[in-house]
Order: sequence, then structure tokens, then C-alpha cells
Amino acid sequence: MDEIKLIDEKGIRLDGRKSDEVREIKMEIGVIKRATGSAYIEWGKNKVLAAAYGPRDIHPKHLKDPTRAVLRCKYSMAPFSVDDRKRPGPDRRSSEISKVITEALSSVVLLEQYPDTGIDVFIEILQADAGTRCVGLTAASLALADAGIPMKDLVAACAGGKVNGKLVVDLMKDEDNFGECDLPMAIVPRKKEVVLLQMDGILSRDEFNELYEMVMNGALKVYELQKEVLMKKYQ
Ligand code: CDP
Repeated sequence: MDEIKLIDEKGIRLDGRKSDEVREIKMEIGVIKRATGSAYIEWGKNKVLAAAYGPRDIHPKHLKDPTRAVLRCKYSMAPFSVDDRKRPGPDRRSSEISKVITEALSSVVLLEQYPDTGIDVFIEILQADAGTRCVGLTAASLALADAGIPMKDLVAACAGGKVNGKLVVDLMKDEDNFGECDLPMAIVPRKKEVVLLQMDGILSRDEFNELYEMVMNGALKVYELQKEVLMKKYQ
């Protein structure tokens, strides 16, 4: 089978980006009045909403933890968010993404400050074009900050991968579908600590090291945009 051409000889990708370029990103906060905090992100063709509630009473009550708040993040894809209609309701992929996002955010939210309560974050993918776990996590972290929930830092995410043998950041749909590797990553930017790292595909050790740096830089750019939108609120 002929290889699908995703990047040309000059290193330009199908949407005109260079290998280390992140798609255009727009962020907004405070978009849902009934939530304690919320965020909306358009990232390339992805459109993602996140709403945070709490700290509040937790149901079912047996989940209560007397030492800390219980953080629950729920990732869902709207049926109309993808080309083939997505069957509504939970599935293995959404459960996995909800779990990794919850774990990533648990490392920054100061949960010990709110024992016996729950903090819920709902992430709704309205339009998907690859990298939705990164967009969802970035939006969830902004929604928690918008809610005024104390955190050590934000969490910023970005993916990278390999297409036609070349390393690139922030894969779009065609690159995700026809590329050789997808590597989503999330960081706590101030410490450059990695709180989510998944990999689908194969890279050599050198390629991994190079891509890791490229994705780290991508996530740091995302962090700058997160700070910018939060600062605007308080100016
Ligand atoms: O979105 P992310 O890259 O974090 O996760 P993925 O499982 O690698 O999915 C990549 C992309 O496949 C999604 O962003 C969607 O655009 C698409 N997808 C789809 O078309 N239908 C699904 N049921 C799930 C994903």
C-alpha cells in the first residue's frame, strides 16, 4: 500500500504547519453560569467544554474520604462530535480517558483542604479532531482554576507523534489516523513534571527523547495561553 503523504519535502504538514507548530488555540473561561468554574477551548478543529462543580456533597455518600476531597473527571464525546455518529453513553475509551485525566489533575489540586467533599469536572467533546484528551485536560484544569479551587499549578497538555517517519507535535485527525505514533503528554509546567504520558505506536529511544522535548515545548506554549486567559479575568 502506498504511504499517505502527510508531510512534504520541506517539512510542511497538510494544514500548513511546521513539525513543531501547535494548532491555533482559543481559550475562554466562565462560560457556564451554573458551574463553579468552566472553560471552553477551540484547538484546531477540536471544540471542548469543561465544567467544574464543588467542593460539594458527594454522592453516593460511601465515596466520602475524611482525609481529602474526591476528584472525579468525566470525559464524554457528543454523538455529533465525530464523522461516524458516536454512540452516546460511556464506553471503554471514555472510561480510560476519564481515569487518566482524573489522575493527572489529582496531582495538582489541593484535595486535602476539602475533606468529605467531592469535586466533579465534566468534559464534553463537542467536535473532535485528534488530541481531545489533551484539550479536555487543559480545559478541565482551567475550569478548576476558574472555580477558585486551590491548585499547585495548572496542568497543560499537548500530543506529539511520528508521521511519514518525521516527528511532529499536536497531531490532527489525518496524522493521528495514518501516522506511525501518537504520544499525548500532560505536565505541571512550573516543575516540568509529567502527569500523563501515553504512547500508541513505536519510537526508537532517540526519537522518543527528541519528541519528548518537542511535546514539552508545545505544552509550555499551551500553559502561556492558559495563564493569559486567567490573568485577563483578574485585570
Ligand atoms: O482524541 P485523542 O487523540 O485524545 O484520542 P484517540 O483515541 O487517539 O482518538 C483520536 C481521534 O479519533 C479523536 O480525537 C476523534 O477525532 C477520533 N475518534 C472518532 O472519530 N470516533 C471515536 N469513537 C473516537 C475517536
